[in-house]
Amino acid sequence: IHRGIVMDTGTRIEQTLDAAIAAAHLQNCPPLLAQAMRHAVFPGGARIRPRLTLAVARACGDPDPGIANAAAAAIEFLHCASLVHDDLPCFDDAAMRRGKASVHKAYGEPLAVLAGDALIVLAFETLAEAAARQPQSLATLVRVVSAAVGSRGGIVAGQAWESEATIDCALYHQAKTGALFAGATMAGAAAAGVAHQDWRWLGEKLGEAFQVADDIRDVAATPQELGKPCGQDAAHLRPNYASAYGLGPAIAHLDALVLEAIAAIPACPGRQDLGTLIGLTAKSFLPESLQRRAA
Ligand code: IPE
Ligand code: IPE
Ligand code: MG
Ligand code: MG
Repeated sequence: IHRGIVMDTGTRIEQTLDAAIAAAHLQNCPPLLAQAMRHAVFPGGARIRPRLTLAVARACGDPDPGIANAAAAAIEFLHCASLVHDDLPCFDDAAMRRGKASVHKAYGEPLAVLAGDALIVLAFETLAEAAARQPQSLATLVRVVSAAVGSRGGIVAGQAWESEATIDCALYHQAKTGALFAGATMAGAAAAGVAHQDWRWLGEKLGEAFQVADDIRDVAATPQELGKPCGQDAAHLRPNYASAYGLGPAIAHLDALVLEAIAAIPACPGRQDLGTLIGLTAKSFLPESLQRRAA
């Protein structure tokens, strides 16, 4: 049996991330840069995006687990890089991330910039290493993953909207959060060799749901629960769904978006299990204290 198939999802993700980082540090990597990169990736947060990639690959049969693992790791490396840069003083100036010091607080700004850069490069190296045997899937994966993070509606675009005089809130959230979720579902499909465009909508809906949950957490959770500062949207004058519409309506909207997402899962062999998994995952979008308040 292929080990990748029997291994539990969390283990698949952590082992792939760890092996890729270890390889990146094997030769000629300055020690502090290596430490800063590890600090940015381990221990992780919820690993929600790479879990989504593997879940979609599995629902589509997961014919090549090695490529699915690499796609999931690439998505998570890009997410971690975006957080390192997002916490820098020139962006959100956040001292804490995932319950510990942000990378620039621990290693200084130059190494935080470089650790983010290195993780972005490592994401694409990881894809290239795994998919070298299959140039066709590699080409698709690189296109899908680049679109999720680039200047054309990806994370870079999302962050750049914050420097514009006027922001379209939906476009901003779609780029900042939705694009990487869509990249996560489409990369899972591409890794399984099926038409990836069919999986965009599911990712976008889940990204939208996740953003509403993030807005709720920013307003109503504690820094202890989140492991990062709260009240950031108000502090930076950013639109927030929960402060605009109230906590109850925001939670109702979140639940509706998750149901919409599940209903939109494309036809595939594991459709039912994927729906169940997404429903369960979405419950973890909010900390328990907020779920109780919603009940
Ligand atoms: C935080 O993402 C950044 C947003 C896009 C809201 P996560 O909440 O997924 O962060 P981690 O990876 O679990 O720490
Ligand atoms: C960070 O977004 C996620 C990126 C796309 C870089 P936010 O600034 O809204 O999220 P947190 O609160 O720092 O996690
Ligand atoms: Mg930010
Ligand atoms: Mg931030």
